[in-house]
Amino acid sequence: MRRVIVLRMSAYTRQAMALLFDRTANTYDALGVDFFGVFARELLDRAGVAPGERVLDVGCGRGAVLFPAAARVGAGGSVLGIDLSSAMIERTAKDIEDRGLANVSVSLMDAQEPTLPDAGFDVLLASFVVFFLPDPVAGLRSWHRLVTPGGRAGVTTFGADDPRWAAVREVFKPFVPPELAWTLAVRSGLFATVEGFGQAVESAGFTGVTSVERVYPVKFADPGHWITWSWSHGQRLFWELVPEDRLDAVRQAVLAELEPLREPDGSVVLAQTVRYTIAHRG
Ligand SMILES: C[S@@+](CC[C@H](N)C(=O)[O-])C[C@H]1O[C@@H](n2cnc3c(N)ncnc32)[C@H](O)[C@@H]1O
Repeated sequence: MRRVIVLRMSAYTRQAMALLFDRTANTYDALGVDFFGVFARELLDRAGVAPGERVLDVGCGRGAVLFPAAARVGAGGSVLGIDLSSAMIERTAKDIEDRGLANVSVSLMDAQEPTLPDAGFDVLLASFVVFFLPDPVAGLRSWHRLVTPGGRAGVTTFGADDPRWAAVREVFKPFVPPELAWTLAVRSGLFATVEGFGQAVESAGFTGVTSVERVYPVKFADPGHWITWSWSHGQRLFWELVPEDRLDAVRQAVLAELEPLREPDGSVVLAQTVRYTIAHRG
């Protein structure tokens, strides 16, 4: 199975990315690590999501943004989540049903160019998805038209990597083929600096663009916990690129690199920088 996946990924299609997330959907954000939910709540605060608003959550995944957004907009508002992973959509739809939420829905849709009516949302939120798009600026442009004039968008991306974890990232690099080098670059190019990303957002038509970066300590019980967690989201790609017969050696190499980073209680802590960008449709 892994070989087939890698071949598809070398061709790099958005569908392959969606299939990657299909394989994470089961344990995504559910392994006892304070991660996507923490950043989602801060995004909602910064975007100022208010009762009665119509919200679009682009790349909704398992609902880290979607569910708190639904609570904030209340019965008088609405939240639509879109994602290209059918497993994410199916599981999140089930959660919506189980929670009996009438103001939330999800739809299988490509974030590169969502097929939604113009100006249908007061707020567009996109947490950790824009860098998966083949053409992020074109994606941002298509998101701009979905926001009502006077409305806003809130986008989260990653800031600089934790330098203490550089050796762990290096372990995976030899297995990443050139055609997938972009997956290592979600913090470079367009995304490298606050200023550069701000300009990209402006070039897509948004105005009043502001970004803030915050660093969060993300705690893992031990190095093995980080490994298990890293299979449960986009990082899984790097594990899947490792040939089957090298997996154990790579796992051991990661454990060896993380050992010196252990805290007195055995845990390891990643300093995660997150960038929140808020933009407006004039
Ligand atoms: C890192 S996850 C973030 C999920 C969620 N926003 C959160 O904060 O937990 C990225 C999500 O974007 C979705 N995604 C990736 N490429 C996409 C595309 N072209 N269109 C729609 N969704 C996409 C993935 O399936 C995945 O659910």
